[in-house]
Amino acid sequence: MHPYPPSPPVAVSDPSAELWQSAARVLDTNWSGDHMVPSRRLYPHQWSWDTAFIAVGLAFVNPARAWRDLRSLFEAQWPDGRVPHIVFDPATAEDDYFPGPGFWNVPAYAGRRARGSTGIVQPPLHALAAWEVYRHAAAHGADGVSEARTALAWLYPRLVAQQEYLTDRRDAGGSGLASIVHPWESGLDNSPAWDEALGNVPADLALLERFPRRDLAVAHAAHRPTDLDYARYIGLVRNYRDGGYSDTDLTQRHPFAVECPAFNSILGTAELALAQIAGVLGLTGDARRHRDRAREITAAIARRLWDPVTRTFRARDARTGRLSPARCVSGLLPLMLPDLPADRVTAIMEEARSERFGLPAPSADRTAATFDTRRYWRGPVWINVNWLLRRGMLVHGLRGEAEELRRAMLRLVHEHGHYEYFHPETGEGLGAPTFSWTAALCLDLLADRSAPAYSKAA
Ligand code: SER
Repeated sequence: MHPYPPSPPVAVSDPSAELWQSAARVLDTNWSGDHMVPSRRLYPHQWSWDTAFIAVGLAFVNPARAWRDLRSLFEAQWPDGRVPHIVFDPATAEDDYFPGPGFWNVPAYAGRRARGSTGIVQPPLHALAAWEVYRHAAAHGADGVSEARTALAWLYPRLVAQQEYLTDRRDAGGSGLASIVHPWESGLDNSPAWDEALGNVPADLALLERFPRRDLAVAHAAHRPTDLDYARYIGLVRNYRDGGYSDTDLTQRHPFAVECPAFNSILGTAELALAQIAGVLGLTGDARRHRDRAREITAAIARRLWDPVTRTFRARDARTGRLSPARCVSGLLPLMLPDLPADRVTAIMEEARSERFGLPAPSADRTAATFDTRRYWRGPVWINVNWLLRRGMLVHGLRGEAEELRRAMLRLVHEHGHYEYFHPETGEGLGAPTFSWTAALCLDLLADRSAPAYSKAA
């Protein structure tokens, strides 16, 4: 018998059990045998940070699939520890997604599965996801716990290797933070946070004639990044690929290397989740080391990505040393870190509450000239980053604000559907209509596990 009921484990308040059922249906539809796709048409492969958000929701309705999905992703991990941002499904035609496996042309490596992958990464949210799935199993007891322990033991060394890749090989700025080498690595593809750094990247529109965009065949052009952005994205992939996906001398050899506050806050949070996992596995020394690493990453974010003039966190270009002028939702996510100094917590909450954002937070500053209500990460509201922001509120004991945000997110999805993202003024659903992480995180929000996994790092 399945130990997890297909209905909410706690009373569903508002909006309703109907939302729970529709979310569970989205996850059933998007399951592809051994992994979840973010959406059937627009994203027909497995995406890295999607897998993490999705696992958090699957914990409630099908934990075996949560573990299977995480395992599928980590089976494609590279020997250097990087976890690819897309793992390609060999059953999906090359033409169904661009850039597909042929374009990425990643090197063969021992243990590589039949399906290939990209050579870039995404935010390392998987330790947190694994911890959440385990926590749910432990709370429910029974059969799920031993399955969860086995899965944790398999994942743990792989999660550690993922962290080490990011903290060692990707510290392009020598600052103790990881740099992203492509906007896709942030997960916040066309965020205004990258505009200035992308100014150094040539936009060769002729590339799009040779390699036509597939996304525009299945999504509205006004909701997606522009051709100029795409030409840069493709150029950056080619440069990194042609350098053998090497991270040596990144700031000299590659035109884009940026320290993102959201990516690095997730990196720090992952260390705290790893400390919890190491504790369950009886690795006390490891647990201490992970907590130390979390403190170091927090200190580096506070030192390196803080702008004392505007009192905001910003992305820093590791090549030029400049902080991006754009105020984006990524700057609110250091709130996830329990050791963030109190004055920074206050500043983030003031920014989140200001006319520039509001709750649920849009992806970028409403008052900026670049604000675009429909275009991907340049304005729309996304559930995943708001879910992370809510975690941050809980970590800092801001329960009233967290509850307000939880309700606002649920209202949005209840009224408009399990969309990929939402118009920040009307709530209109944008992008893919049955999007896995929106559905998965809805389950978590409905179940309302408001107790954070940890408070202050010990
Ligand atoms: N988000 C990208 C896309 O739009 C890839 O990660 O396809």
